[in-house]
Order: sequence, then C-alpha cells, then structure tokens
Amino acid sequence: MASDSPRALSGIQPTAGSFHLGNYLGAIRQYVALQETHDAFYMVVDLHAITVPQDPVELRANTRLAAAQLLAAGLDPERCTLFIQSHVPEHAQLGWVMNCMTGFGEASRMTQFKDKSAKQGADRATVGLFTYPILQVADILLYQADAVPVGEDQRQHIELTRDLAERFNTRYGPTFTIPAPHIVREVAKIYDLQDPSAKMSKSAASPKGLVNLLDDPKVSAKKFRSAVTDTDTVIRYDEKEKPGVSNLLTIHSALTGTGIPELEERYEGKGYGALKTDLADIFVEWVTPFHERTREYLGDPETLDSVLAKGAEKARAVAAETLAAAYDRLGLVPAKH
Ligand code: TRP
Repeated sequence: MASDSPRALSGIQPTAGSFHLGNYLGAIRQYVALQETHDAFYMVVDLHAITVPQDPVELRANTRLAAAQLLAAGLDPERCTLFIQSHVPEHAQLGWVMNCMTGFGEASRMTQFKDKSAKQGADRATVGLFTYPILQVADILLYQADAVPVGEDQRQHIELTRDLAERFNTRYGPTFTIPAPHIVREVAKIYDLQDPSAKMSKSAASPKGLVNLLDDPKVSAKKFRSAVTDTDTVIRYDEKEKPGVSNLLTIHSALTGTGIPELEERYEGKGYGALKTDLADIFVEWVTPFHERTREYLGDPETLDSVLAKGAEKARAVAAETLAAAYDRLGLVPAKH
C-alpha cells in the first residue's frame, strides 16, 4: 500500500522454528490482510529473542526460517516492508530512550514478564527480559504506526506503548503517533487441541495439542482427529460449556471463511468425528502449499537475504527520521556529519 495509507507494524519472534496455528490465525493472517489497506512494516524480532538464552546457530537459522514462513504465508515484499529487527539499529537506540521514560513499577506490572520470569527464576531472568516490553514500544513508535496487529496476549504491551507515546508527546511536544491494537476477536485466541482451556503455545503440555505449521501434515491431521471435545454430541459454539468443539469451529471457520452459524447448521446431527476429519483435511490442503513455498525460500538464501536487505533499507529510512526527531526533542546535541 502507498505510503500515505495508515501504517501498520508488527513483530514476530524467531524462537520457535516452525510457527504454529495460533501464531498464524492470531497474527500472521492479519499481517497479510493489512498489506492491502496499510503501509505495513513487519519484522522478525531477533533482539527480543535474545532476552532468553539462544543457541547462536539455531537463532540464525530460525530467523531466516521465520522470514521464509512469513513470505510463504503471503507477505509480499512489493506490498509491505519485511525486515530483521537487528538490521535497524534505531530499535536499540529508541529503546534506550523509552527505558528512560518508563517507571520501574510500571515495567514491573507487565504480566508477560512475570509469567516468563517465574518460569526461569528471578536470578536467571535477565534485565533484557524485564525491559522487553519497552523495546517493543520503541519498535512500534519508530514507524509512527497507527495499527499493531497482535494476539490478545500483547494487549498490555500496546497499552504501555500508548502511555509512553503520550507521556513523551506531553513532555517534549508531539513526536509519536499513538497506536491502536488491531486484534481480530474471533481468532485472537486459538486453544490447545488437548487442553482447550490453554492457549495454543509452543510450550504446550502435550505435543498433541500443538499444531506446528511445518510438521508433517499427516502428523497434524492426526492431532485434529484426536482433538479433545466433550461427552456430549452436539456441535455448537459455546466457549464455556464446549471449549474444545468451539475451538475446532473457530479454526474451521478461519481456514474456510465459512461463518460459525453456517457450520453449526451443516454439522447438525453429525458427530464430532465428522467435524474433526473434515478439519484435518482442510488443514492439510491449506498447509501443503505453505510447506512448498517455505522450502522454496529456504532453498534460495540469496533471494531471501536480498528481500530482507531491501526491507531493512526501507525501514531504516523511516526509523532514522523518527529517532532524530526524538533526540532533538530531548535536547541531545546533534552530531556533525
Ligand atoms: N512481543 C511480541 C510477541 O511476543 C513480539 C513483538 C516484538 C511485537 N516487537 C513488536 C509485536 C512490535 C508487535 C509490535 O508476540
């Protein structure tokens, strides 16, 4: 989209290897849609990834793999700007400024940090993990983003972004656009196929609950066929009473574009088996070309790296302008060139 359209920006972590279905339906699909209506910037957030220990070889491979999957999912370098966060040094630079705008207590209230650090223990959790949301704030503000497509779990970080942008603008004069989260409610949360009370996540209790996009499609099909439902037989959307069935209906509807009421009608009098088998087939049909496209990008690292280099160049032009304005407002002496 042309650069006079509203801006969208989002980032995705390169830590998982394969993206899972929750990442795709909750966020990546929205990235693809927003290319049509927004001047969209998307990045692989490798600097966020290192807030927890990473194996260097794996991190490098997973960063390229993440970019390849984003392209395979439908991001088009002609229609959006795709880049790697560390290729644009302004992220770390504005991140520092934003660190200096954030209250310690304010940062301490970020629930994702509390969850992640509780898992690792206070001594092993890094200061980088603590300031993770503040780097995310810088990511968003650098591009003057209007809309931030994310999953429901990121809402608090977008709130922090709005607060800090407003604080900076009030103290130093209008500098940053106040962004809004772009969360598509119906697919904001995809649940674990074995434990529909938990969000689908790479740290799933059982691997059977997690659908990785790059797994063998046969393995994923089996996971759909053995998804947990309930002891009833009626196919009806009811998150409270029927979380498993509702999750399957959500996924079906998202992948086929069929409304949930229509699906309820279609499956009236049919058992859970029919819904699960159909969904397994629908998923395999969708994911097979995704695999092929991902493999193509990975098989041609030169093209992939050149797409990312062009993206970084475009991103940097925008980011440098915002950083310069922020430094100026703060009273930093401009460097002579
Ligand atoms: N924290 C986000 C997540 O875990 C990833 C992220 C980093 C991001 N920077 C961003 C998302 C900027 C949106 C905008 O999903």
